[in-house]
Amino acid sequence: MFGKAIACVPASTTNLGPGFDVLGLALKLYSTVEIEETDSGVRIIVHGVDQDKIPTSTDNLAFESANYIFQRVGYQPKGIKLTITNGIPAIRGLGGSGTAILGGLLSANAICGDPFSPDQILDFAVEREGHPDNITASLLGGLTVAVVDKKNVKAVKLSPPEDLRVVIAIPDYTLSTKEAREVLPQNLDLKSAIYNVSRSSLLVAAVATGKLDMLNVAMQDLLHQPHRAKLIPGFEDVCNSAIQAGALSAALSGAGPSIAAYCITSEDQIANVMIDAFAENGLNAEAKILEVDSAGATVSLHLHSSD
Ligand code: HSE
Repeated sequence: MFGKAIACVPASTTNLGPGFDVLGLALKLYSTVEIEETDSGVRIIVHGVDQDKIPTSTDNLAFESANYIFQRVGYQPKGIKLTITNGIPAIRGLGGSGTAILGGLLSANAICGDPFSPDQILDFAVEREGHPDNITASLLGGLTVAVVDKKNVKAVKLSPPEDLRVVIAIPDYTLSTKEAREVLPQNLDLKSAIYNVSRSSLLVAAVATGKLDMLNVAMQDLLHQPHRAKLIPGFEDVCNSAIQAGALSAALSGAGPSIAAYCITSEDQIANVMIDAFAENGLNAEAKILEVDSAGATVSLHLHSSD
């Protein structure tokens, strides 16, 4: 029998202001990775959003991740057809690389008969990605708090109130995480550390208890956004315009350049003012109004005869 597995993985927005490399929120915007065993060869096909930015060579992240599983298990399919159907703007701060890694790991794991537990998949994925926030949210869904302790990810998932909406304003340029990390200082003073720990803790408590009116203060940050703002023309204007239009708060989405505004009403108006504010700073942008994905990544396996 030949196997075909399809993993559907949600996008994520991370940091949410102060929770740098820790907090992540899964969004109802998806990428699927389908792996089919074939008689011979390797074919990698990419459809959908930003397909020109996703390699179809063997350095494709989903393919590399799938191969990692096959090598760990000691099983080498005769041939592989890997198809990505991407709905997530690439290199914009929406966790696209994490969805590719998870998609490859989960679908290969399913083809091999699920030798690895979800916790092991999480550890493998985070080791490849280098930080746990996007991967954990995409795998588990909801709002996740993730910490790496001795190479193991310790994660807790919270379910935000169902009426929470996230308006993501996505400017039409890419900003790699590597580039956005290079502008960060290597040290943080004690006052700033306390500032971020206090906001991040308040944010988790506010989401856990549904006190979304706390989000404005709870998403304040001194660790990364002040340094990254210079890479994102109009960062302050876009955040302020969203809040003036009724958003509870706004913050960089991951490493940027997208900006996420959080709201329970006025989402269309918030989307429009964010696009306008980017335009006033010389950038074209699109906006997506998204719900929180509470299910996380899913995978299905289909077996067919090898004849
Ligand atoms: N926490 C990461 C960062 C997310 O801000 O650099 C980027 O993928």
